[in-house]
Parts: sequence; C-alpha cells; structure tokens
Amino acid sequence: MKNMDFSFTLFFLVLAFSLQSSSSSSSLRKGSSLSVENLEDKIISPNGMFTAGFISIGENAYSFAIWFTEPNSLKLNTTIIWMANRDQPVNGKRSKLTLLNTGNIVLLDVSLNKVWSSNTASLKPLVLHLKNDGNLVLLELQGTMILWQSFDSPTDTLLPGQPLTRYTKLVASISETNHSSGFYTSFFDDENIFGLHYNGRDVSSSYWPRPWLLSWDVGRSNFNSSRTAVLDSLGNFHSSDNFTFSTSDYGSVLQRMMKLDSDGMVRVYSRNNVSKNWYVSWQAFSGACLVHGICGANSTCSYSPKYGRKCSCIPGYKMKNNNDWSYGCEPMFDFTCNKSESTFLEMKNVEFYGYDFHYIEICNYSTCEDLCIQDCNCVAFQHSFWEKKGFYRCFTKTQMQNGRFVPSFEGSTYLRLPKGNSFSRKESSFPSNHLCLEKLQRVYVKESENQYVKFFLWFVTAIGAFETVCIFSVWCSLYRSRQKTNADQHGYHLAEIGFRKFSYLELKKATKGFSQEIGRGGGGVVYKGVLSDQRHAAIKRLYNAQQGEGEFLAEVGIIGRINHMNLIEMWGYCAEGKYRLLVYEYMENGSLAENLSSNKLDWSKRYKIALAIARVLAYLHEECLEWILHCDIKPQNILLDSNFQPKLADFGLSKLQNRNNLNNLSVSTIRGTRGYMAPEWIFNLPITSKVDVYSYGIVVLEMITGKRPTTGFKVVNGEKESVGRLVTWVREKKGTSVCWLEEIVHDEIGLGYDKSKMEILARVALDCVVDERDSRPTMSRVVEMLQYHEIQICE
Ligand SMILES: *[C@@H]1O[C@H](CO)[C@@H](O)[C@H](O)[C@H]1NC(C)=O
Ligand SMILES: *[C@@H]1O[C@H](CO)[C@@H](O)[C@H](O)[C@H]1NC(C)=O
Ligand SMILES: *[C@@H]1O[C@H](CO)[C@@H](O)[C@H](O)[C@H]1NC(C)=O
Ligand SMILES: *[C@@H]1O[C@H](CO)[C@@H](O)[C@H](O)[C@H]1NC(C)=O
Ligand SMILES: *[C@@H]1O[C@H](CO)[C@@H](O)[C@H](O)[C@H]1NC(C)=O
Ligand SMILES: *[C@@H]1O[C@H](CO)[C@@H](O)[C@H](O)[C@H]1NC(C)=O
Ligand SMILES: *[C@@H]1O[C@H](CO)[C@@H](O)[C@H](O)[C@H]1NC(C)=O
Ligand SMILES: *[C@@H]1O[C@H](CO)[C@@H](O)[C@H](O)[C@H]1NC(C)=O
Ligand SMILES: *[C@@H]1O[C@H](CO)[C@@H](O)[C@H](O)[C@H]1NC(C)=O
Ligand SMILES: *[C@@H]1O[C@H](CO)[C@@H](O)[C@H](O)[C@H]1NC(C)=O
Ligand SMILES: *[C@@H]1O[C@H](CO)[C@@H](O)[C@H](O)[C@H]1NC(C)=O
Repeated sequence: MKNMDFSFTLFFLVLAFSLQSSSSSSSLRKGSSLSVENLEDKIISPNGMFTAGFISIGENAYSFAIWFTEPNSLKLNTTIIWMANRDQPVNGKRSKLTLLNTGNIVLLDVSLNKVWSSNTASLKPLVLHLKNDGNLVLLELQGTMILWQSFDSPTDTLLPGQPLTRYTKLVASISETNHSSGFYTSFFDDENIFGLHYNGRDVSSSYWPRPWLLSWDVGRSNFNSSRTAVLDSLGNFHSSDNFTFSTSDYGSVLQRMMKLDSDGMVRVYSRNNVSKNWYVSWQAFSGACLVHGICGANSTCSYSPKYGRKCSCIPGYKMKNNNDWSYGCEPMFDFTCNKSESTFLEMKNVEFYGYDFHYIEICNYSTCEDLCIQDCNCVAFQHSFWEKKGFYRCFTKTQMQNGRFVPSFEGSTYLRLPKGNSFSRKESSFPSNHLCLEKLQRVYVKESENQYVKFFLWFVTAIGAFETVCIFSVWCSLYRSRQKTNADQHGYHLAEIGFRKFSYLELKKATKGFSQEIGRGGGGVVYKGVLSDQRHAAIKRLYNAQQGEGEFLAEVGIIGRINHMNLIEMWGYCAEGKYRLLVYEYMENGSLAENLSSNKLDWSKRYKIALAIARVLAYLHEECLEWILHCDIKPQNILLDSNFQPKLADFGLSKLQNRNNLNNLSVSTIRGTRGYMAPEWIFNLPITSKVDVYSYGIVVLEMITGKRPTTGFKVVNGEKESVGRLVTWVREKKGTSVCWLEEIVHDEIGLGYDKSKMEILARVALDCVVDERDSRPTMSRVVEMLQYHEIQICE
C-alpha cells in the first residue's frame, strides 16, 4: 500500500475513528493488491475477528478466503467461512488479488489467468473493506453505495445477519479437508421451501424437509415468495416459509455460524470463547443416514453415535472407487433377466428410499417376489409391515439408492441375485444388531441361571432384564471399540482433551474426605468437590465395585468421550483397588425434581426441557441402535443449568455397575425409580429403547401435572397388571372431560400457558406411556412431534 492518495487517507481516518479501529489493514484501495507470497498481505476486520487473504488448501494450492482469525484450539484449524475460488485454487507463487482502477476485483493466477472476479466497475474511488460481521464489501469511498459484497455469494456458511435469498445457495464442501464444491446444496426450491438437496453424480433428490411429507405437515408455508432466511446473533432463525428455530444455546455467545457440512447436514455452530472449540447448537434433523446419496448407489448406510456413519456395499457388490463412497458400488455378477436363474437374498431392516416401480398395499411375500421376477428392471423389492394399518406392503425397485440400515424398520429388502453364487448363500453382512441380539440372548440365559431367588418374582425378573441390557451394551462397545471413531463429524464432538484419570487421594482431598453428600442412588453416592484447578465437580463413588479395572476403564473411556450439550460431562474417573469413582461437572442449580414445584418453571421452559431431553435420548438411542439405554430417566437425573437448560445425568452408568452384587445394585437402581419403570421390567419382556420412552413419558406427565408417579399392581382374571396411577388419572380426565387439559395442568404453571402446545405435550406423553411397547413412538419421533410445534419462545 505505497501510493496512498489523499481521499483514501481521509477515508481511513474516518473509518478508523468511526469503527474505533486499531488495525491498519481492514481495507484495500484501488490499484493495490494482496499477494499470495506475502504473509502480511491480509485484510483484518476492525474488531480482529475476521481475516481475508490467501489460505493454503493443498500442496501449492491457495484460495482467497475469509476466515475466523482465531483458530480452533483443539484442531488448530482455520474456520473458513467464504472462498472466492474454491474450485480453482491458484499457485503459491505470484498469484494475487487486485482491486483494479476500473473498480473490478480480480484474482490472477501466476500465469495471469483470471480465476475469479467481482465483475464490478466504477470510476469513483473505491475501497474493499472487511466489516466486523465478516462481510467483505466493495464500497464507494464517499457515499454508501455497495458494489459487491461477499454476503451475496456464500459458499457453505452463513454468518449472523447474512441472508440466504432467492439468488443464493449454500454448497457443501467435498469433504472436511477438500473445500471444492460437493454434492449437497441448500436453497429455496420452486415451491418457496427452504430445504436440503442432493445433487450427485447420477441422481438428484431432496431429503429435507422429509420428501414424503407435505410442506404443510412440517409447518412450512409456500405462500410467501420473498424467499429469505436469516440467522440472528442470538440464535433465532427465520425463513420466509415460516420455518423458524432457536438454537439450543439461545442468547448471546461470542461467535455463531450456520454451515452446510460436507455430510449433507446443516448445523449451527457456536463458540463462547475464541480459544475454545466450536460446538453444535442446532442441526436440521437427527439420523445421519437420512441424508441422500451419502453412501452412493447399491450400498447401505448405518449409524451409531459412537462410530458415526458407516457405508457398506450390499452383498454381491463391490466399491466402485475404493477411496470415495460417492461412486457407490457395482455388481460383481452379470445381471440376468432369466426368471429361473434369479434368486433373492433377504437384507433385514434395510430400506432403500425412492425408485419404486410398483407399489402394492396388502401384499404377501410370494406375490411381491413374483412381481419383481416378472420385471427385467427390478433389482430388488421391499416387503415391509405397515404397523399403522396392519398389513404388508410391497415396493419393487429399479435402482438401489439411499439405502440405510434401520433396526427399527420392520421389513426387509430382498436383493435379486443370480442363482448359485457364493454371496447369495452368505448371510448378508450388516452392521449387526443380529450379533448383538444373539449375544444378548445367550448372556441372558446364563445370567438367569444364577439369579438370587430371595426377592419377589417381579423384582428378580426386573434385575435379570436390567443386567441383560448392561451386558449387551458392554459387549457391543467392546466389540466395536477398535474401530475409528468419527462421531465428531456429526457435530457431537468427542471430548478427547480434558478427560483424565484421578487418584483416590486427589478425589478424597477434593471432597474434603467425602464430607458433602449431594445425592445417592443409581449405584453410588455423589459428593460435592472442588478439583485442584478450582472447578466444582460432582464426584460419584460407586458402591462396592468389584468390576475388573480393565473392563471399567474400557467402559469409562467410551462414556467419557461421548459429548452432547444435554448430557452431563464426565471429566474423569478413578480406579484404584476397590475404589471406583466418576468425576462429573457440577450443576449448582439442582435437578428438575427440586424445581418442578417452582413457579420459575413456566410452561415454555417445561416445553423446552421436554424437547431437549427427547433430543438427547434420541441421540443416545440412535442406531447400533439402542447400544446405550439410559434405563433410569427420572427428574432427579435431569439437572438444570442457570438458564434451565437440562442435562441428563447418570447416562451409561448401567454399564459400570457391579454385577457381582446384584442385591445392592438392584435396590439402589430399581427402588429409586419405580414409578418410572416400563411394564417390560416387571413382566420380564425384552428390554428395548422403549423403556426409556416410557420413563420419559412419565417425566413429562409429571412436569405437566406436578404429580408424583406411583405404581401399584392389581390382579385381573388371575393375571397381575401394573397400574400407573398418574397415567390412569390423566387418561381418565382425558376420556371424561372436555376441559381435561385445564384439569391436569399443575397450578404452578399458572394460567398463561399456550394451550395447544401443552396439549401436544400431554398427548405425546400419553403416547409414550402406553403399555404396549411397540405402540410407543421412538424418541426421534417424539422430537419430531414436539419440534414441529415449537414456535418462537422469547425470554
Ligand atoms: C478436491 O476434490 C476435487 C473434486 O473431487 C478434486 O478435483 C481435487 O483434486 C480435490 N482437491 C484436493 C486438494 O484433494
Ligand atoms: C484440520 O482438520 C482436519 C480434519 O479434522 C485435519 O485432518 C487436519 O490435519 C487439520 N489441519 C491442521 C493444520 O491441523
Ligand atoms: C414473507 O416473509 C418475509 C420474510 O420472512 C416477511 O418479512 C414478510 O412479512 C412475509 N410476507 C407475508 C405476506 O407473510
Ligand atoms: C406461521 O407460523 C405462525 C406461528 O407458528 C402461524 O401463526 C402462522 O399462521 C403461520 N403462517 C403461515 C402462512 O402458515
Ligand atoms: C477464554 O479462555 C481463556 C483460556 O481458557 C481465558 O484465559 C480467557 O479469560 C477466556 N475469555 C473469556 C472471555 O472467557
Ligand atoms: C448399481 O447396481 C445396478 C445393478 O443392480 C447397476 O446397473 C448400476 O450400474 C449400479 N450402480 C452403480 C453406480 O454402479
Ligand atoms: C433360463 O435358464 C434356464 C435354466 O438355466 C434355461 O433352461 C432357459 O433356456 C433359460 N431361458 C432363457 C430365455 O434364456
Ligand atoms: C398370496 O396372495 C395371492 C393373491 O393375493 C394368493 O393367490 C396366494 O395364495 C397368497 N399366497 C400365500 C402364500 O398366502
Ligand atoms: C449397599 O448400598 C448401600 C446404600 O444404599 C450402602 O450404604 C452399602 O454400603 C451397600 N452395601 C454393600 C454391601 O455394598
Ligand atoms: C432449583 O431448586 C434448587 C433447590 O431448591 C435451587 O437451588 C435452584 O436455584 C433451582 N434452580 C433454578 C434453575 O432455579
Ligand atoms: C441458579 O439459576 C438462577 C437463574 O434462574 C441464577 O440467578 C442463580 O445464580 C443460579 N444459582 C447458582 C448457585 O448459580
């Protein structure tokens, strides 16, 4: 910046004063350039938060970009928010960005090739300025005319205040490390709906909002054709199709951004402190495998919170490009149309979305198979039970796209293969719940052989079932613990830093000799403590732990790495001799149980708490599925922070319990939670994630009514039946009174509640507590039901 003219100096002084800037490089004037070789050649926003300049994106490959000045502390990575030339990087020598005297900004490669330009022209004095909000603007020195701004051409990120319009769209990167344009886009479609779309090599489709639902059903409206959406700095998002949300950390944070990630999910990230990592404060939906095209054609996607998303080729197919799933899989056999040469291989719980050639309701297996075999283009068919209507449906497929393994999907896809091939005889190799279940069965039998028989029948069977789940989970995690984890790709990053081993003495000192007890149950006593770094902690001493140290460590290590904003954070553990202790973050504002009768907890806070707990349970339950059940949802385990943001405690604890002392374990675990236990526990039925759904429903009913749940038993025709008194009471009110809602709502909630939302909450809770396990919704369904009715709740 050598030939500084007078007007620029003047502008700069004005700018410097008006923005209280200390930086002398927040702008570039006409005739000057930024060079790729000079590290000093950067434009920094007056507040220092954003930087624009050349950034290395590969070997000798540079892009002109805007990024958050402060790197991500954990990954030491730059968070890029905009790129001029993402698909055409320039050389690391002699490339430069120049603001020409003609008013055009041009990015020239070493060969003087024009790689990018702003296509602007003006003879007036201009300046390229990076504003405090991250917007790079080309504006007239006098006057306020903006000729060009980076906010008008987003890449994959929107900053607060930056609108998405009818003219703009977000395009995800190929991968986390390759910033070239990828396959996922987000824009307003022809129906004026803001959504997510897959634009793959061979096919395109829309996957959010769910394509099989009408926009109306998901609370969207397509009447408003203005097509704008914007996130504000507090975390409110408003779109002209009436889609709105608030991030889970609504309020002021240091930085936010909304990003379409390379995995096809749109998320809002926040950070509170520049030296800390970004965390996810909102994402469009849960279910990483619902993203279309993620594993390519002829493959299936499976997901577990621990190991993230996994792609596999269907049997008889192999990866087309070993480094890139987006190419999908291709058959290793010659496809035959000859009817007598075809056979079908069942893939349980596997579903392929779209490309149905025929759809028949009420169809038995043989008719469905026939339909496929008659048709040369049919590569597979899906035969699935439609629970709602009580019959089987048949879909024949001409292509296998968007395949996913969903353990909760009651149906199979039958794959057409030529007869006599080895792969057609092999069990299909799915990421396998089957394995888990086999194991579950065996362990269960073994365990029940040496049951203690002193307890009441229901009590013993409940323990057996409880154990089953614990062992099942343990097995499942050990089995998979060697696989690389990529759960952080799904936003719920693993806290690898900060989780550590404590010595017994250290914890004894922190708790002043275990003097201040703050709770007990769930297998141990919890004490308050202050760690040597002055952090307040809740330290749980497990009863009489005899679990082997190795096993304990394996479990704790896994649990400690799972991180979600609505889960209590585990900071560390101690395993010394007979001592087993867990160190958690301390929540000084107590639990939901203590605050339920407080009038500070108005209806909107209760609704938010219910939704947040549903979200975190859906997260825990999702795919390998059910690899971790909480088994102990109750208000005492839902802690609150000062904003009434709930955090679930004691998660994963079922895995750490001492199995050799069933008596004590069961006493502490089951007694404390009787009112919340699903009937399966008592009647010795298989335990699934639906036990958590039941307990959740009870907690929500308790939140609405303020009444404690109690359970009893009655004998009907010689059979014992459980009676949830709270549930029965609410059901009776609903059945007999038009004003049932008014009659059940807790007085402390007051009168000013939103009737329609409380009704939804109550109805969802009642759905969750039906005795018939399979009729209860899944947690992700609960989230959907509550979410669609969530309107703006402003504090
Ligand atoms: C990024 O992906 C694109 C498209 O697949 C490819 O052409 C390019 O070479 C990749 N860039 C890097 C640095 O790997
Ligand atoms: C940035 O992050 C990616 C993926 O998380 C990682 O592979 C890469 O090494 C990081 N870069 C730096 C400079 O740490
Ligand atoms: C359409 O949406 C915009 C942006 O959300 C809003 O300002 C405008 O009032 C809406 N128009 C109608 C007719 O609802
Ligand atoms: C938009 O949503 C609000 C509240 O959720 C509702 O009152 C309004 O009728 C909706 N507008 C349209 C056009 O659907
Ligand atoms: C941010 O974190 C650093 C180190 O963790 C700390 O020194 C600093 O005070 C924090 N700043 C704010 C604003 O919290
Ligand atoms: C998927 O398999 C079908 C045959 O079942 C084949 O025709 C198609 O080319 C495959 N798709 C890809 C992307 O290889
Ligand atoms: C189909 O296969 C059978 C047995 O392999 C063979 O006898 C028959 O000729 C084939 N039909 C056609 C049309 O190729
Ligand atoms: C399947 O349905 C068809 C027609 O609906 C019927 O003719 C056939 O007998 C059924 N097969 C079985 C095994 O039930
Ligand atoms: C069993 O649990 C109680 C707390 O309920 C505890 O005080 C006691 O020490 C435990 N007994 C054994 C044998 O571990
Ligand atoms: C919840 O109740 C406890 C105990 O009464 C109280 O200390 C705490 O402040 C309450 N929490 C909130 C968020 O008000
Ligand atoms: C509990 O939350 C309230 C806000 O409801 C806050 O004012 C109070 O300081 C918190 N208590 C503690 C001990 O942090």
